[in-house]
Amino acid sequence: MNTYLGIDVGTSGTKALLTDSRGAVVRTASAEYPLSTPKNGWAEQHPHLWRDAAARTIREILRGADAADIKCVGLTGQMHGLVALDKSGEVIRPALLWCDQRTAAECGEITAKIGAERLIELTANPALTGFTSPKILWLRNNEPENYAKIAKIMLPKDYIRWLLTGENASDLSDASGTGLLSVADRRWSPEVLRALDVPREWLGALYESPEITGRVSRLGAELTGLREGTPVAAGAGDNAAAAVGTGVTRDGEAFVTIGSSGVVFAHASEMRFDARGRVHTFCAAVPGEWHVMGVTLAAGLSLKWFRDNFAPDASYAELDRLAGTVPIGADGVTFLPYLNGERTPHLDPAARGAFLGLSSSHTRAHLARAVLEGVVYSLRDCYDVIRGTGADFAEITACGGGSVSPLWRQMLADALAVPVVTAQSAEGPALGAAILAAVGAGEYASVPEASAAIIRKNPSAAPDPAASARYAAAHAAYRGYYRR
Ligand code: XUL
Repeated sequence: MNTYLGIDVGTSGTKALLTDSRGAVVRTASAEYPLSTPKNGWAEQHPHLWRDAAARTIREILRGADAADIKCVGLTGQMHGLVALDKSGEVIRPALLWCDQRTAAECGEITAKIGAERLIELTANPALTGFTSPKILWLRNNEPENYAKIAKIMLPKDYIRWLLTGENASDLSDASGTGLLSVADRRWSPEVLRALDVPREWLGALYESPEITGRVSRLGAELTGLREGTPVAAGAGDNAAAAVGTGVTRDGEAFVTIGSSGVVFAHASEMRFDARGRVHTFCAAVPGEWHVMGVTLAAGLSLKWFRDNFAPDASYAELDRLAGTVPIGADGVTFLPYLNGERTPHLDPAARGAFLGLSSSHTRAHLARAVLEGVVYSLRDCYDVIRGTGADFAEITACGGGSVSPLWRQMLADALAVPVVTAQSAEGPALGAAILAAVGAGEYASVPEASAAIIRKNPSAAPDPAASARYAAAHAAYRGYYRR
């Protein structure tokens, strides 16, 4: 039996997932790890946490599967993180992650050096605190002794590739989030590398997502139990891989994730972008194509924050039930979910969250509803900017932990005024990575063909026009609050 292994190096843990040749999930294994915040606004993880979790989860998969059957491995993971290695291949310091906000000054430095408009022309995106390039400059400005040791830099999932195969390589979707890629030309931008003084030799070789970047080495086999010589496909950043794993690989197809962060993602066979850079334009996992993506930084995280601090005795299902007892608009309470600053649409790391409109008649149920609604309004902001690039959708696929809530799904359908479906498998990125591996091994002719053959959707939640009108009014009020 041919099998394919997807590995997802996430922020809260690593997941390994094995499929058969038809894309059916055979086994999964996961291992969690913490995120450290040494200072307010910082977010770090030591790459050895990912190494150990990858080794553990792959070994667990192999306890019930034959390594000789695995015809290809696909990698995915959290985007943007900066892994820096010295000349002997050792990790220099913990990785700075996608949600780390320490680099506002370096974003200013990049924009001043290259020019805001030119930067969007070159990389399709502005300099954002989450991206990799300002993290490199932060090391140069703040930890010169560590900076001086750098011989290679790589993204989180590509560190696992490095351990498996000994190759420093990446795929174009993940490389798009470094701020160093010419997203239009699908190659590192010589002009940006020169302007930021980043040596080309630090960066990996670039591949389209299904391409084979190398083979498991003896060391990689010793670490994981995989067979030496097993091919490793390029894979994709977690959102691009989630698109493959939820069946979003053609124009008109889109998904919305409520995970820790929230994402609205639309496939684009032609390059589309927002002139103000409010949504990201990245290469897709479909070779030669792109995607447009809006990101809100605290989606599921807002609800977790609310529950941990103000309703520790309540389950998420109980918060859902409470929120369902309150009408649309939460009787005048609005929540701004900017707990970690915001990307789309404000691009403002200094933005902060708020509850507005509180009165003594309000209860925990109103606040719970306001949190769910606030996250949906921030996703609506992402959706509106994406539609402003000329895209339109007949339906949208909801995924991530938040999509388990029927109330949140219905809110999305009503507030975006579009039918919301879910994929039958909730494995998203890890499944996408395994599908990319299957395409890389020649099991399918193309990524869209594989994704369409494998991914099945559940019936949709239809928008209710009366509810849509009420959410539209509440969203307009929400929009005004940020500025005020
Ligand atoms: C995307 C982003 C997040 C991370 C989360 O730009 O920053 O979605 O990839 O893992």
